[in-house]
Amino acid sequence: MTAASASAAVDWKSLQDKAIEAMRRAYAPYSHFPVGVAGLVDDGRVVVGCNVENAAYGVGLCAECGLVSQLHLTGGGRLVAVSCVNGEGEPLMPCGRCRQLLWENGGPDCQLMTPHGVRTMREVLPDAFGADDLADA
Ligand code: THU
Repeated sequence: MTAASASAAVDWKSLQDKAIEAMRRAYAPYSHFPVGVAGLVDDGRVVVGCNVENAAYGVGLCAECGLVSQLHLTGGGRLVAVSCVNGEGEPLMPCGRCRQLLWENGGPDCQLMTPHGVRTMREVLPDAFGADDLADA
């Protein structure tokens, strides 16, 4: 399957709607920047997350933290497509740390809806550090 046909097989509208629903649950009283994320798992499940901030600003959790927690909590598997949205419900580029979280749980071929269209994790986190690097050591 090519990257384009893999992307076409994903119901991006439904995934984005679930990310928007999750974004509405965000706890972002400090930044006022709610984020929601939804991920399609390789068994067809959809897992979601929202950001959860803290008065100790630095320990706030990005939406993707909740997403990967729910992924494992509900049975594991691999992320095949991810939609992350801002408070307007528009595609949001995950921060660098969260790209690393998505890489761990989806790998290079996982698809990501970005403000610039669908990209693979390989494109948005080139030369990523991953489990293979540990194996090489
Ligand atoms: N945020 C996320 O939840 N995910 C990202 O990928 C980017 C940033 C959150 C963290 C913080 O609560 C708010 O957005 C503003 O940075």
